[in-house]
Amino acid sequence: MKLVIGNQKAYLLKDDVLKFIENTKSKYCKDVIICPSFIYMDIYANKSNYILGSQNVSVTDRKNTTGEVNASQLKSCNACYAIVGHSERRLDQGEDASVFIKKINELSKEKITPIFCVGEGKEEKNTGITKDFIGKQLLDVLDNLEPSVIEKLIVAYEPVWAISTGAEPAETPTNEEINDVVCYIKDLVNDKYEVEIRVLYGGSVNKENIDHLNEIGIVDGYLIGGASTKADEFLYIMEKCCK
Ligand code: PGA
Repeated sequence: MKLVIGNQKAYLLKDDVLKFIENTKSKYCKDVIICPSFIYMDIYANKSNYILGSQNVSVTDRKNTTGEVNASQLKSCNACYAIVGHSERRLDQGEDASVFIKKINELSKEKITPIFCVGEGKEEKNTGITKDFIGKQLLDVLDNLEPSVIEKLIVAYEPVWAISTGAEPAETPTNEEINDVVCYIKDLVNDKYEVEIRVLYGGSVNKENIDHLNEIGIVDGYLIGGASTKADEFLYIMEKCCK
């Protein structure tokens, strides 16, 4: 069984969320994590069997931070997972390792599992430095975490160039390329911290490529953006990954 995590970003309006829940009702929902916009968390908690995750968390547990949602608030809404280090936040909000360390520590205090995203851009891929680049993204954060925190992490390998922009899926890596990078991440973390972590793949995972992707044994699951907002695609993916 593969872990399926839906990152719904800012795709859906409230009515779309209600329809999505209605149209994806299945026995698999209880094993699948959905990370909705904060404003829809309660809808998912009350109307679905999905496990709840968050797309973000505050760097601090301070209460006087306008517009932020902290880890204890997430916990109080039953969130069990949270995404940290997504390339869209690295690019749009300028977040970096120092921010991710704080966020991961905040989540860990509340026993919420961080899903830490890493991935190279097109330039790093084209110049053949993918592994060095990802290694640095990982170590800049993991070197500053307690072993007990590293143990609980899930890493998502998401090549930035493979992430869809919404309208169309992007170009995706070959299974060999994904296998190679995921092995590298697992070995690096194992060699350095003596921990076996779970590693997901993300980037244009959809109905068309899920059967092929499932042939990569070493991948523990998927972080899915666009396709996690389309009921028919998501149902198909759940069936293929959770049985
Ligand atoms: P995508 O997004 O599946 O739409 O490419 C994945 C992600 O950004 O987590």
